[in-house]
Amino acid sequence: MRAEAYAPGRVELLGNHTDYNQGVVLAAAIDRGLKVSGERRHDGRITLRSSSMGRFEITVEDLRPENERRWVNYVLGVVRELLDAGLSIGGFSAEIEGDLPPGCGLSSSAALEVATAFVLLRLFNARLSLLEIAKLCQRAEHRFVGVQSGLLDQVTSIFGRSGHAVFFDARSDEVRAIPFPPGLALIIAESGKKRELTEGLYNQRREETRAAAEALGLVALRDISPNELAKRDLPPLLRRRAAHVVGENERVRRALVLLAQNDGRGFGALMNESHESSRQNFENSTAELDLLVEIACDLPGVYGARLTGGGFGGATVTLCENVEAARIADELAQTYNRRSGLKSRLFVCALADGAR
Ligand code: GLA
Repeated sequence: MRAEAYAPGRVELLGNHTDYNQGVVLAAAIDRGLKVSGERRHDGRITLRSSSMGRFEITVEDLRPENERRWVNYVLGVVRELLDAGLSIGGFSAEIEGDLPPGCGLSSSAALEVATAFVLLRLFNARLSLLEIAKLCQRAEHRFVGVQSGLLDQVTSIFGRSGHAVFFDARSDEVRAIPFPPGLALIIAESGKKRELTEGLYNQRREETRAAAEALGLVALRDISPNELAKRDLPPLLRRRAAHVVGENERVRRALVLLAQNDGRGFGALMNESHESSRQNFENSTAELDLLVEIACDLPGVYGARLTGGGFGGATVTLCENVEAARIADELAQTYNRRSGLKSRLFVCALADGAR
């Protein structure tokens, strides 16, 4: 028997670094993704073949993280977690293909985890709820990849819906599809600068926000409003980190009201505020991401722009009129290249359906 699954990439729209602080976030699955297809083997081997990353082979018995070809860890990590969840997963061959390039901030990692989990559950006749699958993939990333990421990427890849944003409440696990104003497009622009040590910086921010919550006597930064935070004592660095997360939660709440009124422009203004807060408070932007946002915001037809995802490199997302998207993407790429000397890979994306 062969099985096949597709999982899309995602773009974070608002709610930066809120997920692991038990906060709220708005994201969307995009119309690019990865397909994993495979079949069972009876010799206990796992063989992987990716059109862009090459081949890999290991036995189920020898399962361990790979230091050289790190892309395989997303697959192997999922196998490990399925086994630890008590499911009997044996050998299999899998092929990976798609149009979601790694390292562009589109979360190809979550897409690979989710598509792998879907295929293996089918091949080995097992069932898990969609939320359990998301959490299992997140654990794979923590244990096999070493990034203490939140649940945003996996939830969005699974629960995305065409023309909708995904609202996720990381405390209650509520997931809701929110209609997005029609006629808008998202341009995702990679900064073109190689990221280094970002895992360490991500984990460090996670630690700083935890320390801020602790200093405030809170379970999580979810539990304080921007006004209350302003009245409390906190060392300057922790204050800035907390202000970002608390502000992002607030912006997500304001965004829900704006989306209910189909207000794309208002939503874009919140994206700009979010980027400014990343820049000043969370310090997870870079000169390149700032430049992409600055150029985008000067182009007619753009509603707003911000960095998307973890930051420290990666990509920005620009919200604009659909009919203008191709022209805006072109101008953004050219101006960015002229001013930075770097080449940005750009993707004009629609809000799309989740994994299947
Ligand atoms: C990465 C992580 C997510 C989330 C974002 C920042 O994409 O994988 O869980 O924390 O960064 O919002």
